[in-house]
Amino acid sequence: MSHQDFQERFGLYYRSPLMREVVEVIQQVAVTDITVLIQGESGTGKELVAQAIHGLSSRASKKLLSVNCGAIPEGIIESELFGHQRGAFTGAVESRKGYFELADGGSLFLDEIGELPRPVQVKFLRVLETKEILRIGAETVSKADVRFITATNKDLNLEVSKKKFREDLFYRLRSVMIELPPLRKRKEDIPLLVNKFITDFCFRNKIDRIRIDDRAYDLLIEYHWPGNVRELKNAIESAAALNKTGILTSEDFEKNLITSLQTSSHRNLPVHLNKTTEEAERGLILSALIEIKKDLVELKTVLIKDGKEVQTEDHPVSIKEVQKEAIKNALIKTHYNKKKAATVLNISLRTLYRKIKDYSLNLRED
Ligand SMILES: Nc1ncnc2c1ncn2[C@@H]1O[C@H](COP(=O)(O)OP(=O)(O)OP(=O)(O)O)[C@@H](O)[C@H]1O
Ligand SMILES: [Mg+2]
Repeated sequence: MSHQDFQERFGLYYRSPLMREVVEVIQQVAVTDITVLIQGESGTGKELVAQAIHGLSSRASKKLLSVNCGAIPEGIIESELFGHQRGAFTGAVESRKGYFELADGGSLFLDEIGELPRPVQVKFLRVLETKEILRIGAETVSKADVRFITATNKDLNLEVSKKKFREDLFYRLRSVMIELPPLRKRKEDIPLLVNKFITDFCFRNKIDRIRIDDRAYDLLIEYHWPGNVRELKNAIESAAALNKTGILTSEDFEKNLITSLQTSSHRNLPVHLNKTTEEAERGLILSALIEIKKDLVELKTVLIKDGKEVQTEDHPVSIKEVQKEAIKNALIKTHYNKKKAATVLNISLRTLYRKIKDYSLNLRED
């Protein structure tokens, strides 16, 4: 398949030699049944690559199931993947198929594989090796005809050295590893992507073609894109949506990109993901306190400016309220990108999902 056809069929656009190489590997491995590991920073296109691999395989007419391992609570992930027999544990009133069985005949995309709890990792390795599944509480195994596509935005090598990820599973997965380069290492793709996203936006909204001036172009090429293609797409879409003149200028982008810069500077804070619940809670409280301190500093500046005296009152605030505020703020700041929000908050993605549920924070999807 030519690069042109590939781009149109899978909506994955590129021009850089780095991505051309990646796509050649994708086409080569797609037709086999081999397990693939896609590694790349958030927003580099891992989901699109998984779809392309499935779409080019002999299983294309069957289902591609997607499971985000980081979003399933640790306590139920094994039963979600492997299924269970009736009575296997309290609450298992009926037998249920897990994702491995549901994907039978097709492909299963296991996203955020680095978040798979260690005890489940060993069981997954067995599935890869034997192609057999043992539901929780079952006595006999069932066959699984599944093609596995896995992805991670973590450096699994590092996770292995921290004993968070099993070495044997890592070796098994990395035998076919597709590394998606971050956007800042393939800047040749930026002009093509910019034009593509503008064209799509105008087409979808039935408006005349919006142009973009040279300075804005330069800014977009210069910028380091910590959120990669997703961030570029969001930046173009919000600039285009707010634009009134028909020409995008650098001012149309500066505000958004600066917000992202602030977000990325948070990344320099020590990150302790995957900690125990107690540590995660502490992280949340800490980031909430940092927020409060920032607010206080701002408040003081305002008060000093007005030359007024500060009169403070003691309002006891519950930890729950503080956490809820911190989560809300983080989600708003990261444009509802849960992964970024979790990094900013210094908690794991799983804890974030749990908190959103616990606090009934009814928020937009990613
Ligand atoms: N090469 C590309 N051409 C066009 N659109 C792209 C490309 N790469 C990514 N995108 C778009 O960017 C967004 C993010 O891509 P995707 O969800 O595949 O990234 P990801 O690597 O899975 O991110 P995450 O780690 O956050 O899950 C999507 O809207 C996708 O359509
Ligand atoms: Mg993804």
